[in-house]
Amino acid sequence: MLRLQAPLPERYIDADDANAARIEAAKAALGDRLFILGHHYQRDEVIRWADACGDSFRLSRLAQQRTVADYIVFCGVHFMAESADILTGDHQQVILPDLDAGCSMADMADLDEVVEAWDGIARVTDIERVVPITYMNSSAALKAFVGEHGGAVCTSSNARAVLDWAFEHGDKVLFFPDQHLGRNTGIAMGYQLGDMALWDPLRSHGGLAEAEVKEATFLLWSGHCSVHQRFTPGQIADFRERHPDGVVVVHPECAHETVLLADRVGSTDFIVRQVEEAEPGTAFGVGTEIHLVNRLATEHPEMTVESLDPMVCPCSTMFRIDAAHLAWILDGLVDGKVRNLITVASDTQAWAHVALDRMLTIT
Ligand code: 13P
Ligand code: SF4
Repeated sequence: MLRLQAPLPERYIDADDANAARIEAAKAALGDRLFILGHHYQRDEVIRWADACGDSFRLSRLAQQRTVADYIVFCGVHFMAESADILTGDHQQVILPDLDAGCSMADMADLDEVVEAWDGIARVTDIERVVPITYMNSSAALKAFVGEHGGAVCTSSNARAVLDWAFEHGDKVLFFPDQHLGRNTGIAMGYQLGDMALWDPLRSHGGLAEAEVKEATFLLWSGHCSVHQRFTPGQIADFRERHPDGVVVVHPECAHETVLLADRVGSTDFIVRQVEEAEPGTAFGVGTEIHLVNRLATEHPEMTVESLDPMVCPCSTMFRIDAAHLAWILDGLVDGKVRNLITVASDTQAWAHVALDRMLTIT
């Protein structure tokens, strides 16, 4: 992986108490000029300082609404910070505490590959009837592509509404980069696996015959999340053996076979709500990133909350952001230095904004 983040100065390393004191002091000094957002997968040592936590959809909304803040420090991954930059005003600066915090799934589709796929699909079908939909977990360039080609962005909490909208505007969708979110949402809408074809960008014409492209209602990009594809039907069976009355709740980035056996499926905010609103004593088997699962278990001792995966499965890129990086960023802001600024070029911003706005008005 290409490393963008320079090592931190020595004084921030192994300095838990000092970093906590630095963050506290900087928050007090910066007041309303600072807004710290934390995705649910962040470490506890980061979440404790967040002004708001949420899933990607909620965080993008919050970033957009917080017009008084000069600095939005986004404790999440790169595509989230880019989206915040697109949605916030010109007077606001969006900062990612560690520039190496990317998303391996977002990296599975790039603009050249998507343009090549689009051109290939256009050669065999009426492209005017194809609606491109990109998952929030994608680069700003791909969001701009869908904006320019009549499509929209979706997140795990609104994929169904966005796909309903897409089928009001066309007969076929090209959905990227997460095949699982596309497949799971399509099935929930009543489509069959036979209505879907997998577009593999590494193969000529996606590895599909002309007839397959023509017949498919969903052309699903063959991207995935390495964290969520670890959850299996076998793990659900194990959980149910131990907790026959338990509830299995998984994220829609999990594979279709796993989602089929779950009781509930939804975004990270949805998963949090299931636990918060449950009867005390409920046992939850959760299929999502381990920091969120562990936090829910700690915050709800009246429930049993465990990961479906007995082997720990952190998101290694979310994990890059720690209190040390946050302290370094905030110290810089107090000194008037803006480090790790995330900026999306203005030509990309314009169309990406269209695609994000469509998403925000659909839901
Ligand atoms: P949410 O939008 O559900 O928080 O998901 C983002 C993500 O990256 C899950 O892996
Ligand atoms: Fe990306 Fe998966 Fe990490 Fe979410 S959990 S940020 S999809 S790698």
